[in-house]
Amino acid sequence: MTIRTIGAVAALVAGTLLGGAAQAQGRLNLYCSVQEDWCQLMQTEFEKATGIRVAMTRKSSGETYAQVKAEKDNPRGDIWWGGTGDPHLQAAEEGLTADYETPRMGEMQDWAVQQWRTGRKRTIGIYAGALGFGFNTELLAKKNLPEPKCWADLVNPAYKGEVQVANPHSSGTSYTMVASLVQIMGENGAFDYLRKLNTNVNQYTKSGAAPIVAAGRGETLIGIVFMHDAITQSVRNFPIKTVAPCEGTGYEIGSMSIIAGARNLDSARKFYDWALSAEAQALGARAQSYQVPSNKGAATPPQAPKLSEIKLINYDFPKFGSSEERKRLLSRFDAEIKIAN
Ligand code: G6P
Repeated sequence: MTIRTIGAVAALVAGTLLGGAAQAQGRLNLYCSVQEDWCQLMQTEFEKATGIRVAMTRKSSGETYAQVKAEKDNPRGDIWWGGTGDPHLQAAEEGLTADYETPRMGEMQDWAVQQWRTGRKRTIGIYAGALGFGFNTELLAKKNLPEPKCWADLVNPAYKGEVQVANPHSSGTSYTMVASLVQIMGENGAFDYLRKLNTNVNQYTKSGAAPIVAAGRGETLIGIVFMHDAITQSVRNFPIKTVAPCEGTGYEIGSMSIIAGARNLDSARKFYDWALSAEAQALGARAQSYQVPSNKGAATPPQAPKLSEIKLINYDFPKFGSSEERKRLLSRFDAEIKIAN
């Protein structure tokens, strides 16, 4: 090999290495647990803002938690954005996610910062939303059934086979329901209620919002979901009425966490800071998702259910987001609620 060829080979090797490194910094594997439309908008807008290429996978909150746990020794995801806070807190406790303090901390609502403290600096609140249900007004009139207004109404035998809700293992929405009922009715009362509700449930879906999409299409009368997910269906002109249960209800602090051992840590931090900005948080409403954003400067969409007018319980996030409690409640659900699917 001549000196010149050695030089050329060296330059080529250096070029490849540098190119490789630059490319690695310009990628992000995003695990997303909100509705598909919003996930896609976050993906494309972040790519536009930064030039970083995003590979996005959308799965429900409980499913994403299980995936992050399964991949713990060889993490494939860099950041987990969206989904209910409890499984994010569980992941934080189990060391599956990484500490981070954003320079935007001062822009955040107190409840978002509180989530970060509860989660050992490994997760932060990105939005809030109240649990409730929705029903198809046309179907209700056709079947000549009473309007459900309370949790207690949903176990009325008149609604046999008319209620749909997600499975609490895969769905954060459904786990929020179980945890909220435990806080409203006491644990044994909640499980009695869930057993009765089971006889009215026609299907336990994988994703939390699916039941209200089905209700919109007339495939089920009632869907137990976050109230903002029911609003989305009305905005899309489906005959859905949204209900804040009369006894009071629980709520979520939708969260975001950087995955421990993320291969694209710089990109993950860039996404984290960007996702907390008022501009990025305005994208939810563009995707017809009407949660309350966690940046104090981000406008709450006018369609968002008014949390101050809903009887919200004082949801105990440290308890119901703890690894032990989530595992225990899910096992009790499996043992006592014999779901058909
Ligand atoms: C919907 C809601 C979100 C919620 C998410 C949980 O996307 O709009 O506010 O965090 O569901 O999804 P899951 O499928 O885990 O219940």
